[in-house]
Amino acid sequence: MKRAVYPGSFDPVTYGHLDIIRRASEIFDVLIVSVLDNKAKTPLFSVEERVKILKEATKDIPNVEVDSFSGLLINYAAKKNLHIAVRGLRAITDFEYELQIAQTNRKLSEGKLDTMFLTTSLEYAYLSSSSVKEIASFGGDISQCVPDFVAEMLYEKYRIVH
Ligand code: PNS
Repeated sequence: MKRAVYPGSFDPVTYGHLDIIRRASEIFDVLIVSVLDNKAKTPLFSVEERVKILKEATKDIPNVEVDSFSGLLINYAAKKNLHIAVRGLRAITDFEYELQIAQTNRKLSEGKLDTMFLTTSLEYAYLSSSSVKEIASFGGDISQCVPDFVAEMLYEKYRIVH
């Protein structure tokens, strides 16, 4: 059975992430989407909220599981017996950062954790969780960026009445 992990902050999940999740779920038998619990960062949504959002957004894809992890990805992957990490690439600017992480993970795991990249569909290439949060914080239209229930949760965080 081919299993893979799609790690990320997902603060919150966007249509760009969901596009990668859907496509990766067609390649692997099981895709575990795992939210990084990074104590050094202050996310807008808690890990529990991000996991809940991801579960709701992927409920129609049966082979997707949602989980969370803290610490190093290679340790989490080893514990779960996962050997492939999936990441999305939007542009060349992502590539440098992603290449560094992928190579570090491969080296640190002694070749046990490899990374597979999917290029983001062009319609979502401009999307990022950070820009979605910024637009939402000013009450802008994010209906093209995230599912409706996520947009509502974002406006609620910023106390924007729509
Ligand atoms: O959605 P993001 O924030 O771009 O995801 C980055 C993520 C979670 C994939 C990356 O930061 C990560 O795997 N962090 C866990 C810590 C780790 O393993 N670091 C070693 C790689 S340099």
